[in-house]
Amino acid sequence: MKEDFLKYQAQTTPHPLAMEISHAKGSYIYSIQGKKYLDFVAGVSACSLGHCHPRVVNAIKEQAEKYLHVMVYGEYALSPAVALTKLLASKLPKSLSKTYLTNSGTEAIEGALKLARRSTERSEIIAARMAYHGNTMGSLSLMSFEERVAPFRPLIGDISFINFNTEEDFKSITENTAAVILETIQGGAGFIVPTDNYLQKLKSHCEKVGALLILDEIQPGFGRTGKLFGFEHFNMVPDILVMGKGMGGGLPIGAFTASEKVMDTLMDNPKLGHITTFGGNPVIAAAALATLQEITESDLMAEALQKEKLIRKLLVHPLITEIRGMGLMLAAITISEEMATTIILKAQEKGLILFWLLFEKTAIRITPPLTITTQEIKEGCGIIIDILNEIESQF
Ligand SMILES: Cc1ncc(COP(=O)(O)O)c(C=O)c1O
Repeated sequence: MKEDFLKYQAQTTPHPLAMEISHAKGSYIYSIQGKKYLDFVAGVSACSLGHCHPRVVNAIKEQAEKYLHVMVYGEYALSPAVALTKLLASKLPKSLSKTYLTNSGTEAIEGALKLARRSTERSEIIAARMAYHGNTMGSLSLMSFEERVAPFRPLIGDISFINFNTEEDFKSITENTAAVILETIQGGAGFIVPTDNYLQKLKSHCEKVGALLILDEIQPGFGRTGKLFGFEHFNMVPDILVMGKGMGGGLPIGAFTASEKVMDTLMDNPKLGHITTFGGNPVIAAAALATLQEITESDLMAEALQKEKLIRKLLVHPLITEIRGMGLMLAAITISEEMATTIILKAQEKGLILFWLLFEKTAIRITPPLTITTQEIKEGCGIIIDILNEIESQF
């Protein structure tokens, strides 16, 4: 399979891990060679309920037997999508009442950018340096990393950048700004959490100049930080909320949510302001509905904070300089890029899945399923500490 994978499937790097997967269940992934791996990554924060959660699998099966795709997004009323958007509205502040369902996170970002331009009738978008919002042209235009974006220019226009957690930069947000877009917790940059009421202060500045604030919760969203969305920790509400990844319980989905007044600008003048064939797909919406029900009806969110404490307690070692992030969105910072890579590759040999972050190369991603058990956390952290002890003399 590996040879065919490399030969026929388009690759994203010259050296993919190329693990050959047989099946996955709970916190474990099994290779076709029969090896069992404890998953501390959860498909990069996507498998919030672990692998093949029975409630999600049943919802998929039940819906698959009723109907699959029947019509493009927005024309027919399909009960899984209606129930999902209604339940989401009941869990969000009043001003976030209407949700547009997309096929991926980056497509939800595209929709949010269009919505901001359309509803404010302004064009300038301000993003944060070191942010990651996806890889389509609009999302890529929000990336400040010249090395990554240069080959794809020209990107979309009227984008500028501010530094995250930096109040002095508010002055560049003016009456010309349609929206400021930020990750609530910067992911690729190294799981950087907003400090000193930054988000609250930013929201009031945006209100003053009439700019919208878009928060990308594609990674922290759906319970990973101990609340359904990360912004709930920071005493503010964004104008547009973008979600994805963990929302689908393992299936591809994204969404952006806003007030009815703002969202309704997309349906007129021009009509069909944002359209998609498969957004709101009934099987995927059924999986997302089951995921949202499970996360909000169980103790998983509260437990995420307990599990964070346990990980922080267990991962104490001279080679780990800091653990960043919140809940089960954590990054262990090591002393070099080479060390992080050594740990990630050795962990795979020992049956533990870890992964890199996009920009912060000294970090090790620890984003297990929310359903991970205490025992599994101890097992995984034990493997990391063993590796650190083994390599200590090397670095
Ligand atoms: C914060 C953030 N925004 C956007 C995206 C893009 O989502 P997708 O890969 O579903 O397009 C990601 C994916 O890693 C992400 O972490």
